[in-house]
Amino acid sequence: MTQKKKLIVGNWKMNGSLQFNAQLLQALCDGMGQPDCAVAVAVPAPYLAQVQSLVAGGAIALAAQDVSQHEAGAFTGEVSAGMLRDFGTRYVLVGHSERRQYHGETDAGVAAKAQRALAAGITPIVCVGETLAEREAGQTQAVVKRQLAAVIHANGHCISEIVVAYEPVWAIGTGRTATPEQAQEVHAVLRAQLAAATEHADRVPLLYGGSMNAANAAQLLTQQDIDGGLVGGASLKAADFSQIIAAASANQASAATK
Ligand code: PGA
Repeated sequence: MTQKKKLIVGNWKMNGSLQFNAQLLQALCDGMGQPDCAVAVAVPAPYLAQVQSLVAGGAIALAAQDVSQHEAGAFTGEVSAGMLRDFGTRYVLVGHSERRQYHGETDAGVAAKAQRALAAGITPIVCVGETLAEREAGQTQAVVKRQLAAVIHANGHCISEIVVAYEPVWAIGTGRTATPEQAQEVHAVLRAQLAAATEHADRVPLLYGGSMNAANAAQLLTQQDIDGGLVGGASLKAADFSQIIAAASANQASAATK
């Protein structure tokens, strides 16, 4: 089987400015060279146009951080999938834990967002993950399976077109990373759940997110079911993000020679 390329996505969250973005992307392009993995940056909506033009023709794809579950209309403040498509958006995060936690997003709403993205030809990156309390209560698998099940239910026929990001909430922005074994264990559960829904489950990139950094990326990326990373804090530093991209590219190269 040919090894699919790893996918590294930077999540800038609510950070950036016109000047900062331009400097970061310039430094990133200089630092990463020609990566042997897919790379994207998820930017705040007002910067889609700027980043679209800065990355045009290069190796970095454009991603958004959220999309409305509605097509159009009286939804003040929302951004539709069609609008994202107008700016050449390739991926969109849906159901990030910060959206679930601070903006009351439900499993059904996240599933509807994934549906809107797919209908517009944009790949949804569906984020799932348990809180610390849920992990300690032994509910990790039940929680991530419930979150993914909603998306599978709503998107059955094109479920192999999504990306899934496993992000344990207790590891996001805390400097506390899941061990490669802890992450792999959950990724295997997600892969099995996808396999029950589609014969193309191995096509679905399963990303790990939660304090991924230059020091721990290589080890996480060697795990069998970890196909890439969703990187928050470290994606705002060109040197760190370039090193994560290099780790993903090296992993690709070593897999190819096996
Ligand atoms: P972090 O964020 O890498 O800063 O932990 C990851 C994310 O929230 O996507």
